[in-house]
Amino acid sequence: MIRTVRLGVNVDHVATIRNARGGALPDPVRAARAAITAGADSITAHLREDRRHIRDADIEALRALSSPLNFEMAATPEMIALAVRLVPHACCLVPERREERTTEGGLNVIGQKESLRPAIAALKEAGIRVSLFVEPSLAVLEAAADLGAPVVELHTGTWCDALAAGDSAKAAAEFERIAAAAHGGEKLGLEIHAGHGLDYASAEEVSRLPEIAELNIGHFLIGEAVFVGLGNTIARMRKAMDTGRAAAGAAA
Ligand code: PXP
Repeated sequence: MIRTVRLGVNVDHVATIRNARGGALPDPVRAARAAITAGADSITAHLREDRRHIRDADIEALRALSSPLNFEMAATPEMIALAVRLVPHACCLVPERREERTTEGGLNVIGQKESLRPAIAALKEAGIRVSLFVEPSLAVLEAAADLGAPVVELHTGTWCDALAAGDSAKAAAEFERIAAAAHGGEKLGLEIHAGHGLDYASAEEVSRLPEIAELNIGHFLIGEAVFVGLGNTIARMRKAMDTGRAAAGAAA
């Protein structure tokens, strides 16, 4: 039986628009409810140290929804304490630099093994499913498995940037890295997610990789929603992912 790819909808940029005017609208929690109605399997939100988009009250309200919350966060004592208090379904640990526009790369799992180890243990102890946002590299995945993380999210941003720039040689090489990491990671016993920079076409393509269990997508969906509505956008994304996954099944 073919496993469908789960869709996690990241609502950070609904909060970005809200914060541009300093008021309460648009409400990221309303967007999350609409996304769930339209077929999202889970909601993702990143509470950054600088609170530039999602705020503490948003995370609390998103946690109270019936669908699983994937809480993206840096592995800082402040965020770990909050996660342990709220117990979201999952925490995705990401690197964070104050001056970056968005998460720029995967976690330095190899270099930060000793500081990540207690963070992962504390989250797991609280009953949270821990995911590490990583570069598609087998050495990094081996370090993630060694740390006891059950899930990795492969960073698709470099591949998506190459596609957007029309650099087909680089895109092909990057896709190969993602495919090899998905395959090798699953062999290590890791559940494989992917995300960053995905649109309809790239989400369809990456869904062809049979190891991919979940995609987390934000910026493109919120941008498209301006033109066709969030429900239509999510329905179309679901279809793209299902088409990709069906092609994987046919090839197997
Ligand atoms: N996954 C992770 C770990 C991220 O940091 C982000 C960006 O917040 C995403 C997925 C979603 O990326 P995008 O907004 O480009 O779809």
